[in-house]
Amino acid sequence: MNILRRGRLSIEPDKDIMNFTSSMEADKRIFDADIEIDKAHVIMLREQGIINDHECSIILKGLEKVGKDGISVLDDSYEDVHIALEARLIEIVGEDTGGRMHSGRSRNDEVATCIRIALRQELIGLLEELNRLIKTFLNIAEKHTDTIMPGLTHTQHAQPTTLSHNLMAHANAIFRDIQRTKGAYERTNQNPLGSAAFASTGFPISRERTTELLGFDAVLENSMDAVSTRDFMIETISCYSNLMTNLSRLAEELIMWSTSEFNFIELDDRYSSTSSIMPQKKNPDIAELMRGKTGTVYGALVSVLTICKALPHSYNRDLQEATPHLWRATDTVRSAVRMADGMVRTMNVKKGSMRSAANIGFMTATELADTIVRATGIPFRTAHHIVGAIAKAGKTPSSIELDELSLKIIQERLSDRGLSEDAIKDALDPVENIGKRTIEGGPAPLEIKRQITSLRKKTERVENDIKQIQEKIISASRKLEDAYYQFLVTTIEKD
Ligand code: ARG
Repeated sequence: MNILRRGRLSIEPDKDIMNFTSSMEADKRIFDADIEIDKAHVIMLREQGIINDHECSIILKGLEKVGKDGISVLDDSYEDVHIALEARLIEIVGEDTGGRMHSGRSRNDEVATCIRIALRQELIGLLEELNRLIKTFLNIAEKHTDTIMPGLTHTQHAQPTTLSHNLMAHANAIFRDIQRTKGAYERTNQNPLGSAAFASTGFPISRERTTELLGFDAVLENSMDAVSTRDFMIETISCYSNLMTNLSRLAEELIMWSTSEFNFIELDDRYSSTSSIMPQKKNPDIAELMRGKTGTVYGALVSVLTICKALPHSYNRDLQEATPHLWRATDTVRSAVRMADGMVRTMNVKKGSMRSAANIGFMTATELADTIVRATGIPFRTAHHIVGAIAKAGKTPSSIELDELSLKIIQERLSDRGLSEDAIKDALDPVENIGKRTIEGGPAPLEIKRQITSLRKKTERVENDIKQIQEKIISASRKLEDAYYQFLVTTIEKD
């Protein structure tokens, strides 16, 4: 007999209704968290004198077995893991004792607590993966501070830069993703348990104690808010979306750089596919999927936002519908970060190709205009006009093939105002161009090395933060285990 429905309801739903209603599939993600929460709750009930030693130990032993047997032995005709788990406990230890576990609690605070515990673990994993990705960027950037490549705006040749500068642009974006993820973690790791259905409970429970035993940073205070908000999910998937936008930009560059037209890199075979008909093809499918999966993650964000929009307080079953989107987005994002890391780490950089591409498109025009300004004192807008006219006159404007005549024009017109031939040559040299950009954030080799060192230090700090977060959770689970064994031992001694 269904322990949930037997009182109030008399007709059982058919399979079709149950399939519509059940969250059992998604609940696989929270089964372990649920067992942990049950243990913490039961220990707290004992400490508060709501259940006795004997009851506490029987329930804890029962929970141990339920946990070991796993979710697969639970009766899946129940609508969710929480009630199926309680039913199984009652089956093992009897209702007289097992029926006391749910005192002062509801599935509403239970599920919110479960999701937060399962999610925080994913966020820690994501933080580690993101930090690893940044380190990969740093390691490769370190090797390419002198690797000249064209920098683009509007996908048109713009100014010369280095591969290091480009990779560091990605690394800086990912660092902000780390900061956002840490923020999402902070707001996820708050304890809704003890809110019960929404109005808290008349039992003298201790929310501080379950907060401590479950490694939360704080009680999520207002009990009505605590059971009904999923804003931590929305925030998390927003972070994911931002991150995927950044990864999709990386993916797009890797795809472009791999084309015959660019020919800047070759992706490792592991991160490539081929064609079933065109034997010569080497396709960047992993990068394309990274670009494509960005849409999947945005979809999850819009789904969760739409599901949560305008829900009145407090718990509504609609909320159940949001959770699978969170997990799908989480899995997608974490694997995308790992793919990005692998692709960048193993790609083959074609330095020569990048270097020759930096000679086309008259990318030194800006520096030429700047040089004219510095040497002659004419306004930048005037220099911009002069160099623009040279570019227009050139057949295929290119820094080294730059029309001799045009050069002469500048020289003759401007030499009496202090512009030397050497200064012009320097201005037209991509290496010199980059060397001059020593301003903070610029691509000059020494400056980019400074940026690499500074970001490396930040990743070390992130590593420490992650360690601290993990230690806190580990020490909480030790506390939980200690309390658990203490109750088992005292009761066995008494028995
Ligand atoms: N499976 C539910 C969910 O994910 C658990 C909470 C159910 N609560 C309820 N009152 N029906 O939201």
